[in-house]
Amino acid sequence: MKSRAALVYGVGEEWTIEEIEVDSPKAKEVIVQWKAAGLCHSDEHIVTGDMVPPKEAWEAMGIDDLFPMIGGHEGAGVIVEVGPGVRSVAVGDHVSASFVPSCGRCRYCSTGRQNLCDSSGGTFIKGMITDGTSRHRLLTGPKAGTELNLFAKLGTFAEYTCVAEDSVIKVESDLPLEVVALVSCGVATGWGSATNRADVQPGDTVVVVGIGGIGINAVQGAKMAGARHVIAIDPVEFKREKAMEFGATHTFASMEEAMPEVNELSWGMMADKVIMTPGVLYGDMMKLGMSLAGKGGTIVVTGISPMSQTESSVNLFELSMWNKEIKGTIFGSLNPRADIPKLLGMYREGQLKLDELITKTYPLEEINEGYRAMRDGENLRGVITYA
Ligand SMILES: NC(=O)c1ccc[n+]([C@@H]2O[C@H](COP(=O)([O-])OP(=O)(O)OC[C@H]3O[C@@H](n4cnc5c(N)ncnc54)[C@H](O)[C@@H]3O)[C@@H](O)[C@H]2O)c1
Ligand SMILES: [Zn+2]
Ligand SMILES: [Zn+2]
Repeated sequence: MKSRAALVYGVGEEWTIEEIEVDSPKAKEVIVQWKAAGLCHSDEHIVTGDMVPPKEAWEAMGIDDLFPMIGGHEGAGVIVEVGPGVRSVAVGDHVSASFVPSCGRCRYCSTGRQNLCDSSGGTFIKGMITDGTSRHRLLTGPKAGTELNLFAKLGTFAEYTCVAEDSVIKVESDLPLEVVALVSCGVATGWGSATNRADVQPGDTVVVVGIGGIGINAVQGAKMAGARHVIAIDPVEFKREKAMEFGATHTFASMEEAMPEVNELSWGMMADKVIMTPGVLYGDMMKLGMSLAGKGGTIVVTGISPMSQTESSVNLFELSMWNKEIKGTIFGSLNPRADIPKLLGMYREGQLKLDELITKTYPLEEINEGYRAMRDGENLRGVITYA
């Protein structure tokens, strides 16, 4: 079948809309008609090259080029075709994307850590996670005929893509698909960073650094977990206002500005939990991030750094003598198959704010404008909607 898709031809290029051919699904694969796709910062990391491994690394894996790549990993849609052996979804089902597929059988899935599923290494291989062959081909543009890569093996910036059954999760069909799309990455990652990875406890003082689609949900999660102070830090005033609507108790424009105030608020004990969710997490930001946490404090690293970044300013004396811990997280360390439906259930009961996360919707043609707005701090979340 034919589809339009937004793809990048290489690092530093804008998103380009092209027509593509999507082949029929093979075993354990499905075709999704995407209805909504969130403009998460992670796709931007592909455009800037921050999240593109060095050429030598892919050449060593026998891959000639990671590009052209269809973007999009936050998404929701409807199943329109299923391949042989698909059992968890059927044609007509509404699904959430899952940027970490969950096979259910690997060491990690079978020990309640689906966010670490062995099949998720697939973003940087070309072809399907099922059998390594390709289902997507360019029909237009200078590289017509070329096989395409899909970011996170999803490619939600397309009307239709063929994905592994393991990469989608059935959801209730009356839920708005824009909302389901946001839960598939930003909501789960931010909320889980606070409630699960940071393990926010009633009475905690929590700092969230960077209030985008991820950080705002860390604010929401910390509030729900019973934090006493939820301190949101972002240079953009609009983000600070939104943070207050989602449960922050205080806001500051920078970590420097927050430092004396967190000291005051906590009677010198500083924060119990610090959650780092800036658009790009540069190594030197960890110095202040760590200092915002007090004795026994936890610093959760959710924001993504340039892949080549191997240095970070971490005071190792504070780490040992103040018994601090630094924890990374992918997907808020949640289990997509259990937690995406759980979060949607909380939305249904009015406990989780999700409609309010969407600042603006865009047609696929306006994707570059949507990402400009993200970079300029105008959107809490922008969302592509398909007619
Ligand atoms: N770990 C995961 O599983 C996972 C999943 C999704 C996204 N991410 C990453 O999380 C990060 C946030 O994503 P997003 O979509 O919310 O991005 P976003 O661009 O929507 O928001 C980032 C916010 O950080 C703010 N910011 C930038 N520098 C700052 C600083 N020094 N201090 C305070 N605030 C600062 C910006 O003003 C912006 O409001 C990105 O790096 C993204 O790739 C990680
Ligand atoms: Zn994302
Ligand atoms: Zn697995």
